[in-house]
Amino acid sequence: MSSFIIEGTNELCGEVEISGSKNSALPILASTVLDGREYIIKNIPDIRDVRMMLDILKKLGCAVDYDCGVVRINTTNLNSYVVPELLVKEIRSSIILMGAMLGRMGKVEICYPGGCEIGLRPIDLHLKGLKKLGISINEKNGMLDCNANNMKGCDIHLDYPSVGATENIILAAVKCKGFTTIQNAAKEPEIVDLQNFLNLCGYRVNGAGTSTITIIGKKINDKTSLDYKIISDRIEAGTFLAVAAMAKSDLLIKNADRKHFNSVTSILEDAGCNLIEDNNELRIKCSRRIKAAEIIRTQPYPGFPTDMQAQIMAAFSIADGTTIIKETVFENRFKHVPELIKMGADIKIIGKAAVINGTEKLYGADVDAKDLRGGAGLVIAALAAEGKTKINNVYHIDRGYENFINKLCKLGVKIEKTSG
Ligand code: UD1
Repeated sequence: MSSFIIEGTNELCGEVEISGSKNSALPILASTVLDGREYIIKNIPDIRDVRMMLDILKKLGCAVDYDCGVVRINTTNLNSYVVPELLVKEIRSSIILMGAMLGRMGKVEICYPGGCEIGLRPIDLHLKGLKKLGISINEKNGMLDCNANNMKGCDIHLDYPSVGATENIILAAVKCKGFTTIQNAAKEPEIVDLQNFLNLCGYRVNGAGTSTITIIGKKINDKTSLDYKIISDRIEAGTFLAVAAMAKSDLLIKNADRKHFNSVTSILEDAGCNLIEDNNELRIKCSRRIKAAEIIRTQPYPGFPTDMQAQIMAAFSIADGTTIIKETVFENRFKHVPELIKMGADIKIIGKAAVINGTEKLYGADVDAKDLRGGAGLVIAALAAEGKTKINNVYHIDRGYENFINKLCKLGVKIEKTSG
């Protein structure tokens, strides 16, 4: 198992280029199976989850080439409707293949993805929506056997604006006859990106970014080859903002779309950081200890993202005053807290809330990354810790951050990766 060794430092400076969005790349890559053709998709981050998704697509018969952020994929020879169980267990978001495979093959067999590090993560909303579209789903021994013999557009109301359920339903609905409406849909920018990609493919999806999405099940073009560039990763951008706040830095964040992470910038501005925007560049200057934020609640977009909770918690662990963070999206997303406490943070968990009493200092320690964003939170904590921090199990971090070490090194962080 690989580890990061980080020597606490302060006052980072420099530029960081934000990579393509993980949460856009995964559903867009999945949606390439909807039609057999050639796609060129740009700005795809080189991260473990993307490599896994590409492996699944290869196993299903697609030809895949990935080089310098560009995926060339030909899905003409897709020849299987069974999604390999081992890979689905490795990458939970492969469940998005369900809707797309049903649309293309009329059938899919995929295992139940089960829980993961951050909670139970059921897929009841995905299944309920797909059933409403006329898909029959039989569950046996953890496998879902789905058939799309009678797919038809309909009105679907999601009990919760689940990102994955919204995507799965859109992907099945584009192949359904008639209209589909999704109410209480997720509004994340990645849903808008998926809509833009599908519309370029000739489908007709409207309303992404609002809580009502309509899909007209009729294609208006059938291009044989497509070229698309995905949006940049708002969570990676937010992570580097938290890096800046923690390490009293002056950073230029390039290739980031500020309107996608206003909920993060507004908290940092209130805490005393100075943010200056210029086109797709955002400069953050934090020269003093940040002030505590009274209460931060994770919420579906445009609320504060649950995917930024751990990184912001790390930054506020040395803030002046007490911050309360309420996690309302996932039920088990505080696994980084005991690790931060090992580094000297003063954090108490009360139900769904973490109460963070800012301390003046953190100390280097031997800690474990328990999940992707929690791991990033520990990296941030290590930046301002006195002495060396060893973060184990950093494969979690590799799932979602492209070139993380190189990007941090360029800013002046003393970080190295060790294996074993
Ligand atoms: C996506 C993101 C993930 C992010 C999350 C919330 C991807 C690849 N992943 O995950 O990074 O943390 O959105 O912003 O885009 N739920 C149900 N039943 C369902 C589906 C979801 O109860 O059928 C619950 C979940 O357990 C969770 C909440 O709804 O408590 C939000 O989940 P959801 O929005 O579906 O997240 P994902 O799509 O899995």
